[in-house]
Amino acid sequence: MCGIVGYIGHREAYPIIINGLKRLEYRGYDSAGLVLSTEQGFQLAKTRGKVVDLEEKSSDLDKTPNIGIGHTRWATHGVPNDVNSHPHLSNNGRLVLVHNGIIENYESIKKLLTDKGYVFHSDTDTEVLVNFIQLFQEEQNLSLAEAVRVALNEVIGAYAIAVLDNQDPETVVVGRLGSPLAIGIGDNEFFVASDASPFIEFTKDAVYLEDGDMATIRLGEKVDVRTIQNNEPVSLDIQELQLNIEAIEKGGFEHFMLKEIYEQPRSIRDTMRGRLLVDEGIIKMAGIWDHQEKFLNAKRIIIVACGTSYHAGLVAEYMIEDFARIPVEVEYASEFRYRNPIIKKSDVVIAISQSGETADTLAALKLAKEKGAFIFGINNVVGSSIARITDAGAYTHAGPEIGVASTKAFTAQLTILALIALKLGKHNGQLSAAQFNLLTNELERIPDLVQQILENCEGVVDKIAEKYKDNSNAIYLGRGYNYPSALEGALKLKEISYIHAEGYPAAEMKHGPIALLDENMPVIVIATKKGYYEKVVSNIQEIKSRSAKVIAIVNEGDEQVSAMADDVIVIPETAEEFSPILTAIPLQLLSYWIAVKLDKNVDQPRNLAKSVTVE
Ligand code: F6R
Repeated sequence: MCGIVGYIGHREAYPIIINGLKRLEYRGYDSAGLVLSTEQGFQLAKTRGKVVDLEEKSSDLDKTPNIGIGHTRWATHGVPNDVNSHPHLSNNGRLVLVHNGIIENYESIKKLLTDKGYVFHSDTDTEVLVNFIQLFQEEQNLSLAEAVRVALNEVIGAYAIAVLDNQDPETVVVGRLGSPLAIGIGDNEFFVASDASPFIEFTKDAVYLEDGDMATIRLGEKVDVRTIQNNEPVSLDIQELQLNIEAIEKGGFEHFMLKEIYEQPRSIRDTMRGRLLVDEGIIKMAGIWDHQEKFLNAKRIIIVACGTSYHAGLVAEYMIEDFARIPVEVEYASEFRYRNPIIKKSDVVIAISQSGETADTLAALKLAKEKGAFIFGINNVVGSSIARITDAGAYTHAGPEIGVASTKAFTAQLTILALIALKLGKHNGQLSAAQFNLLTNELERIPDLVQQILENCEGVVDKIAEKYKDNSNAIYLGRGYNYPSALEGALKLKEISYIHAEGYPAAEMKHGPIALLDENMPVIVIATKKGYYEKVVSNIQEIKSRSAKVIAIVNEGDEQVSAMADDVIVIPETAEEFSPILTAIPLQLLSYWIAVKLDKNVDQPRNLAKSVTVE
């Protein structure tokens, strides 16, 4: 989490940094800061709050300098306040640094520095790091790059950093381990950022720094990339960015989340494009095809993920076991990595992650790789850390997801997982040609059905949201394929409207949660026709007998549940296996509208950040 931006070139750095930070705010938004480098020294502004607050705080700065770095923070060490905000200055005022990540051994380094007379103003690990660099620079008379390199070799943790030195004002030094960092290369100008969005309108050429690498960026020179460990030169791998500016703007929608919900017919179609070839009766996925031995001989598939991506993994368990009859286990990445799991060489481990940077998922994958398993990544962000360490993978092609609550990434993940499950089932003979045909034809219809749902929900879901927005709790129920949908619906509600919500398998109600039911407890029930419909009807009867309100998601033509429920949202019917893609849409919209009506910050919910690069 945290976003960093830097510029060195011939333009004014200030607007590039401010606009860049706004684009990176999804990574953290509890404080922001920037520093501009001038002949006379550093001009620094930082504040608790958002980038708009930083703009206000910067009103007196001279905006003409051409070099600067900035930061938007998601607090790890120290509460969000002005002092803990980045950038942080070294004691001698010579160095200034922004940091995304965590320095785990900062306490011992701080002690060493304190013993040498250094003083600290903030509670951050970052202020420790910048002073640690000062220590090497002074004691060993090192250049900025050398001092950074030596200091980083002593550091344990994760970081992406950018550092300026006022005695070498035309240089920016950056480095990374575990947190992403991209360098944009323009015409005698350079950009630095946590992802490429801050510089997309200036250049299409970017270098994604590899873990363990650092770079010295100097005007008029080629970017000098080296390994942090040994100072060995690394050749520049310049990639052409595929990102376009429209993809990272709101495009007329009030919030990114709403835009991303409405983008789903397109993002699902893009995820299928070139892969689902219904007329030819095939699913083309090089990442699977090139390693089919691994998949088809796998004794077990283990899926590791966090949050919404974990919920996609739960649906995948049902699909892969149904279509391909390969046993699947789904684990929270954070639990998996710390519980001494049994991982065999015959296992395939799939990591699902929108950002491709989630620290726990990345660590779980590294563990699986060490134990010899074949590791496969499903990511949305091209070139992300997970995409780079996996043996093979598949991108979701949902396009940049900026709203902190994941929406289109989830349905794109479900789509790609459906393709994988179908492909495995076809190739290991568990699915007949007729079943495969039927299912692929159905999957191809999904983008149109999603479009239909979006149209049908207009003017319906916002009214339901108005009715229930003041309840402090909610329960989500689903069975089978839609049990993970219930979990996802509850997560969406909690994270953006701060209403306590829990998802359960509908049949589990009577084993405890039913005690919570009374007239103040809305229960959102997924009651699609093919999903154990009769059983769900009985569950709804049990809920109604406890006077709780029922909001039901039903299929077109439904009569029984519709007659019992207080409110209904109607969606078209599809194969049960793909129904979580459809049920996700009204659940996303319900959370969205409740949050809007409660006047919450939909795109930047409190305490959250989009890319969780800390454990
Ligand atoms: C929920 C949400 C989070 C993420 C989780 C994993 O809306 O966004 O729960 O799903 O932090 O993130 P990725 O998929 O980037 O690994």
